[in-house]
Amino acid sequence: MKLRYIVLAIAGVLAVALVAAARWHLPLNPLAGGGSRTVTAGASKISIGGPFTLVTQAGKTVTDATFRGKYLLVYFGYTYCPDVCPTELAKIATVLDRLGPLAAAIQPLFVTVDPARDSPSVLASYVPQFYERLIGLTGTPAQIARIAKAYHVYYAKVEDKTSPGAYSMDHSAAVYLMGPKGEYLTMFSHQTGPDTMVKTLREYVKKTS
Ligand code: NI
Repeated sequence: MKLRYIVLAIAGVLAVALVAAARWHLPLNPLAGGGSRTVTAGASKISIGGPFTLVTQAGKTVTDATFRGKYLLVYFGYTYCPDVCPTELAKIATVLDRLGPLAAAIQPLFVTVDPARDSPSVLASYVPQFYERLIGLTGTPAQIARIAKAYHVYYAKVEDKTSPGAYSMDHSAAVYLMGPKGEYLTMFSHQTGPDTMVKTLREYVKKTS
């Protein structure tokens, strides 16, 4: 009986940590730093990434195949995000600027988790503020749900009780690095600094280009 309570206590602590991670835009999955495209979790393997169909800020339909041959930095967020998304997108821009010519091999993508508000035109006035080549992607709620599931991204609508109709989105804030064949390479957490990102990206892009 005693062991059972210890197990329950550990499960409780983990549950609280997961909720806290979601609240504070931390990546929910314990994959940080991994260099392989699959991660062993218990007996099963978790794959990250996969097919998607979305629309760019220019209104153009794209799929995962559109970006073959490029490294991708994939970040999920929403334009109304007050703090974390702008910080992360600015960090991605800084990192790409510091990579110099190597950055040409990398396509940054911003996928909205708030398709109800983030139309192509809303994205069009948002993404260029951060980086000229940043592509904003939106879609139907089902299309967004599909890509979020493929990347193991958590997101949830949070109603603002003080203002009717207003809401924010809770979401995980990892940046995924995908390889030229669409394969998962690694991910960066919200806490990963630009120096580490520049170093890691140099290693990956040099290795295979
Ligand atoms: Ni955000």
